[in-house]
Amino acid sequence: MTADIPEPQVSVLDAGGQYCHLIARRIRDLGVYAEVLPSDAPASQLSTRKAIVISGGPSSVYEAGSPTVDPQIFSLEAGVLGICYGHQIMARLLDGSVRKGERGEYGHATVEILAESPLLAGLSRSEPVWMSHRDVVASPPPGFTVLARTGTCGVAAMGNDARKQYGVQFHPEVVHTRRGARILSNFIFDICGCERDWDPKSQVRQLEERIRQEAGSRSVFFFVSGGVDSSVAYTLCLRALGADRVRGTYVDTGFMRAGETEFVRDTFSAVSPRGFHIEDASAEFFQSVEGVTDPEEKRRRIGERFVCVQERILQSGQLLDGDWILGQGTIYPDTIESGGAAKADVIKTHHNRVSGIQRLLEEKRVIEPLASYYKDEVRRIGAELGLPAELLNRHPFPGPGLAIRVLCSGSESRLEPTDRGWIIPVRSVGVQGDARTYRPVLALDEVPGESGNLQYEATTLVNSAPGINRAIALCGSHRPLKSMRVFKADLRKDRVEKLRQADAIVRRLSQRCGFDAKVWQFPVILIPAGVFGRTDSLVLRPVDSVDGMTAQSVPMERSLLERMTRELLQLDGICAVFYDLTHKPPATIEWE
Ligand code: XMP
Repeated sequence: MTADIPEPQVSVLDAGGQYCHLIARRIRDLGVYAEVLPSDAPASQLSTRKAIVISGGPSSVYEAGSPTVDPQIFSLEAGVLGICYGHQIMARLLDGSVRKGERGEYGHATVEILAESPLLAGLSRSEPVWMSHRDVVASPPPGFTVLARTGTCGVAAMGNDARKQYGVQFHPEVVHTRRGARILSNFIFDICGCERDWDPKSQVRQLEERIRQEAGSRSVFFFVSGGVDSSVAYTLCLRALGADRVRGTYVDTGFMRAGETEFVRDTFSAVSPRGFHIEDASAEFFQSVEGVTDPEEKRRRIGERFVCVQERILQSGQLLDGDWILGQGTIYPDTIESGGAAKADVIKTHHNRVSGIQRLLEEKRVIEPLASYYKDEVRRIGAELGLPAELLNRHPFPGPGLAIRVLCSGSESRLEPTDRGWIIPVRSVGVQGDARTYRPVLALDEVPGESGNLQYEATTLVNSAPGINRAIALCGSHRPLKSMRVFKADLRKDRVEKLRQADAIVRRLSQRCGFDAKVWQFPVILIPAGVFGRTDSLVLRPVDSVDGMTAQSVPMERSLLERMTRELLQLDGICAVFYDLTHKPPATIEWE
C-alpha cells in the first residue's frame, strides 16, 4: 500500500551512495515530494519531472559496471543536478572529463565561489562544505561554467544556466554543508519551478481512508516491537478501523532494555486495552541459547525462536484465516532496492522467515501504511497522532536486543601486549569490504579527548592492522589491563541483567545532559574480560549515522564520560569501562 502520493516532480537517481535517501529527505523537508529511482531509470519514465538529481556513490566512473544514467535525461525539459559521483558522471556523459584525484578529499572543506549562478544565489564568496571523493572533474562539458573550487578540487561546482544543468562535487544534503538547504531550494524552486505538494502531517486523514479501503471488512494484526515504525503504523490502523478490528502482540524475549516491556504495555494498553497482548517468551529464549558462545549461532537460535513464537501466535489466534491481514511498519528506505537487496531483507530477516508471514505476503494480505515515508516523516505523523515524544524519538534498537550486546566466550585466555595496547581475544564483528569478519579488539590505554582525533587514529589503526576489528580506549578500571583475562561465559540471565543495569545508567546520564539527542544510537556492550570476582567489562559505543549503513564514533565530553565510568564501575562484577573509537567501516555499530 502507498499513501496518496502526488505525481512526482522530483526524482533522485540512486548511484549507490549512502546519501541518496538523504537527498530525497531534504527535498521533502522543503515541501516537495521526491522519489528515489535506480540510476539507470529510462528517460521515458522521467519525462514529466521538473527536476532530476543524480546522487553520489562510491564508484569511479572509470570502473567497469559502475552506475550510469540514461544520457537522454539531459535532453528532457527537467533541470538536472549531479552530486559528487553524479557530478562526475554528468561531466563524462556530456563530453567534459574526469580524472583520478591525487589524494582524496574527505570531510570539511571550503569552497570559493567563482561565478554568479542561480544555483549558488544567496551564498557568501566562501562557504563551508562537506566533501567525500577521490576522482575529480578535470574539465567541465562544453557550455558549462566553473562556479566554485576548493584547494584540491578545481571544479567543485559547474553549471549551464540555459539548460538548467548543474553539478556539485560537495554534498549539499549533509548538515556540514552550511548552506546546503539553500542550494537545494535554489535548484528545486528557482531553477526548476517545483511547487510545494508535500506535508506528511496533513496526510493522516488520507492515510486512514486508504487503510479502510484496503482492509475492507478484514481486521489487522501487528507484531509490535516498541520501535517507532510499527508503533505509528499500528496506531494509524487503530484510528482507521477502531479498537475491535486491530490486534497487536509484543513478544518479550527477555533481552529487552530496563523498563521497555512496561513502557510498551503502558503506551499501547492505553490506546487499545483489549486488542493489545504481551507474549512472555523469555524462558524459552534463554533456553534456546543455553551454552552457546558462537555469535552467529546465537543469532541463528534467537531468530529461529522468533519464528516459532510468531508462528504459534498466528496459529493460536487463527490469524491466518481470511478475516485477518498483517500490518507492518515498513518505511520507504526498506522498500528500495540498494546494491541488489532491500535493506529490510538484511535487517528484518527474522520476520521474513516466518512461514505464516511468508504466506500472507504471497497472498498480498499485508498492509504497510508508511511505505512511502522516511523515518523523520513517520515521527511527524506519529506526533500528529498524539504519540509521546519519548516513543517517537527513540534510538533504533536491534530485534535480538541485548542478546547481541552480551559477548560470550568458550574458553579462557590472556590479553596479549602489543606496541599500541592490549589485544582482547573476544570475537567482535566488523565489515571489511562486503564481508563480515569476527576478530579480537585492541584496547588502548589512552582516554579519548573531545576533539575526535583519537577516533580518526583508531580507525586508521584498525584499517592497517589485519588482525583486529576495533580499537577501544580504557576509560577506567578496578585493575590494570595487564592483570585482566577473558573468561568462559555464555548468555545467562545474570549477565543480561548486568548489561541491562549498565544500559539504564548510560541512558539516564546521556538523556539528562542532552547527549542522547546528539547521537543516532548508543549501544553498551558487555564483554567477558576482567579479573576473578569481576569477570565482565563494559564498552560504550555512541555513534552518529544517517541510516546505519555507515557510522562515526562520537566524541563525548570528558565530564560525562567520567561520570558514566564512575557509576558503571560501581556495578557488581564489572572490572573496566571502555569506549569504542572505531568508525563503521571498518567496525560495525553492534559488536555481533
Ligand atoms: P551494524 O551492527 O550492522 O548495525 O552496524 C546497523 C544497524 O542495524 C541494527 N541491527 C539490527 N536490527 N535486527 C534489527 O532489527 C538485527 O538483527 C540487527 N542487527 C543490527 C543495529 O542496531 C544498527 O542500528
